[in-house]
Amino acid sequence: MSANQLDKKSQAWSALFSEPMSDLVKRYTASVGFDQRLWQADITGSLAHAEMLAAQGIIGADDHAAIQRGMAQITQEIESGGFEWKLDLEDVHLNIEARLTQIVGDAGKRLHTGRSRNDQVATDVRLWLRDEITAIGGLLTELQRALVEVADKNAEVILPGFTHLQVAQPVSFGHHLLAYVEMFSRDAERMGDVFRRTNRLPLGAAALAGTSYPLDRERVAKTLGMVDADGNPAVCQNSLDAVSDRDFAIEFTAAAALCMIHFSRMSEELVLWMSQNFGFIDLADRFCTGSSIMPQKKNPDVPELARGKTGRVVGHLMGLITLMKGQPLAYNKDNQEDKEPLFDTVDTLKDTLRIFCELVAGITVKPEAMERAALRGYATATDLADYLVKKGLPFRDAHEVVAHAVKMAIGEGLDLSALPLETLRGFNSAIDADVFEVLSLRGSLNARNVLGGTAPAQVRAQVARHRARLGQ
Ligand code: ARG
Repeated sequence: MSANQLDKKSQAWSALFSEPMSDLVKRYTASVGFDQRLWQADITGSLAHAEMLAAQGIIGADDHAAIQRGMAQITQEIESGGFEWKLDLEDVHLNIEARLTQIVGDAGKRLHTGRSRNDQVATDVRLWLRDEITAIGGLLTELQRALVEVADKNAEVILPGFTHLQVAQPVSFGHHLLAYVEMFSRDAERMGDVFRRTNRLPLGAAALAGTSYPLDRERVAKTLGMVDADGNPAVCQNSLDAVSDRDFAIEFTAAAALCMIHFSRMSEELVLWMSQNFGFIDLADRFCTGSSIMPQKKNPDVPELARGKTGRVVGHLMGLITLMKGQPLAYNKDNQEDKEPLFDTVDTLKDTLRIFCELVAGITVKPEAMERAALRGYATATDLADYLVKKGLPFRDAHEVVAHAVKMAIGEGLDLSALPLETLRGFNSAIDADVFEVLSLRGSLNARNVLGGTAPAQVRAQVARHRARLGQ
């Protein structure tokens, strides 16, 4: 049989058609250019299906053996780069099946018994994504560990905390970093949750209605490791839903978009902190670039790109939800458009995670610059108000007293702690010499010794909690 005949034969619908597709339509409808990435999942799914067909007596043991042999050869061909992907064969599924038939003959043609490309592609994407989610979970753990490490070292370092990007109150730099650990730990939780709904088996739904062959879908699910937390097979329970459901892809992309948004927020801070006007940190040279015209420049390209790539992943989420919104049950070819956004989301997120694990570990912290900035912004004004409240003033009155003190300090170009005691007492006679401890940045920090607060003792407690949770 010539390759041409085989290609024609593999198109089950070809006898019905009286004219060939134009090259343009072929290119438009084919997905092999990108979905060949699913080849491993496709073969894994096919082998599990074939094993079950044989166990159920739907195909013979000899056919099963031939399919196994053919798939082993195809695996080797793809891995060595010797496999010839053909646009004429539309997608990864038809390419592999056609090659299988070429190698093992009729056994290859029996593989498709009781299944359709509709349940096949849904299975492949789930198998592929499931493993990517596991890899992303591992990277999220690594990133959190890197952040915890830097947070631990900087528990005592004082940073001006901002609201509205105006100096608000002093915070521990370690505390600030642990805020991102909270975000990324929620991302990891979300990924775990998406994993459960991704790791379910559509195969056996066939085109849309199920199949008349006595399939054992639960056996296939177990073979593929599609099981729930109790080890029970996880099988999509409605054939129409099974072939058309892409919720898992949307949920994953939503979780990925949120994770990228966390990176984007962190990136924005890194960019600000590295600018000369802040000068709080430095990033290792390997994450930055120079300027072709300004010799003094060192630009934080990596965080800027992470911020930019966030837009692209959010775009993929918009693409996927829009892809689904008008689709009637069951499978529609629209669904072929789920792959490129999904693949790019995985690639972008994984690369960002990998790079940030390194970037975070290599941050140079400049504690003096941070502290100087905290001193400039009257960051302990709230502490003075709290001090007065503890001396019996109602909070609103204390707030007013401190506002006057800050106004004077600004006029004099001095920090509150630099005003003489007599001047301070002029605002309220309850003020005593012990006020200076309260007005110090460190006093302010230490005072916030409440669960979740910024006192270094709390930061260390959080570091210990995270270390235990992350097995660090
Ligand atoms: N390449 C297709 C996709 O990605 C596979 C399923 C095709 N099914 C069909 N009935 N044309 O969705």
